[in-house]
Amino acid sequence: MSSADRPSRTTEAFFGRRRGKPVRPQQAAALESGLGAYRLDLSAEAPSDLRTLFETEVSAVRLEIGFGGGEHLLHRATEAPMVGFIGVEPFVNGMAKMMMAVRQTPLPNLRVYDDDATQLLDWLPPASLDGIDLLYPDPWPKKKHWKRRFVSSVNLDRFARVLKPGSKFRFASDIDTYVNWTLLHCRAHGAFAWQATEAADWHRPYEGWPGTRYEAKAIREGRRPAYLTFVRT
Ligand SMILES: C[S@@+](CC[C@H](N)C(=O)[O-])C[C@H]1O[C@@H](n2cnc3c(N)ncnc32)[C@H](O)[C@@H]1O
Repeated sequence: MSSADRPSRTTEAFFGRRRGKPVRPQQAAALESGLGAYRLDLSAEAPSDLRTLFETEVSAVRLEIGFGGGEHLLHRATEAPMVGFIGVEPFVNGMAKMMMAVRQTPLPNLRVYDDDATQLLDWLPPASLDGIDLLYPDPWPKKKHWKRRFVSSVNLDRFARVLKPGSKFRFASDIDTYVNWTLLHCRAHGAFAWQATEAADWHRPYEGWPGTRYEAKAIREGRRPAYLTFVRT
C-alpha cells in the first residue's frame, strides 16, 4: 500500500486533518520515494545511539514536532549539516511538500515520521535528544478543546524522558492562552526551567529564526508571537 493510500488512524494526540487538497502526481511520487528513504520504522527497535539513524555523521539529534510544510525544518537541517533532525508531520500535504524539497536537495541529516509524535516519543530511548521544537502547535483556542493541546502533563513526561539534561524544549505560539497554558504546565511539571531573564525574551525570536508559514499568517492577522525556551533540568 502506498503512503498516500494509508488510512487515517485514531491517535492519542493528533486531532487535525490528515489530508487537504489531493496531492498532485509529482508530489505523490516524491512522497512515496521520500518516505521510503527518510521515514523511521518504529516496528524496529530504536538504536541506543540515535546518531546512527542518519546517513551522515552527526554530533547531536534534534526533533521538530508538527513541521507543517517543513520550511523551518529545511532551514535548520540545511544550516546545520552536522546535526541530525527528526521531523514529525501527520498531515499528508505537509509531508509531501517536504519530500518534494528533499527530492530536489537530499538531506542526509534528516529522518521523518508521518504520524502522531507521541508514537515516536515513546519509541525513542531515554535521554537521547538534544532538543525539541514545538512551533505553533494546533492552538485549540476554545476552552472545551484545551485538553487536545499537545502540551499536557503526559506529553511533558514524554519530553522529560527523551531529552538529555541541559537540552532545550522550545515552544512558539501566537495564542496567549496557549502560551500561559504552557508556562503553567512546565512550571507544574518540575523538569523544565523557563529561560527568560527579562520581559523582552518572551517576544524575541530564536537565534537564526527563519519564521514559519503559520507564523507569517498569525502576524498578518495581527497576533504577536511568543517564543518560550525551557531547559530540561
Ligand atoms: C498550526 S500547524 C503549524 C505548522 C508549522 N509548525 C508552522 O509553524 O507553520 C500545527 C501542525 O502540527 C501538526 N500536528 C498536530 N498534532 C500533531 C501530533 N500529535 N504529532 C505531530 N504533529 C502534529 C499538524 O498536522 C500541523 O501541521
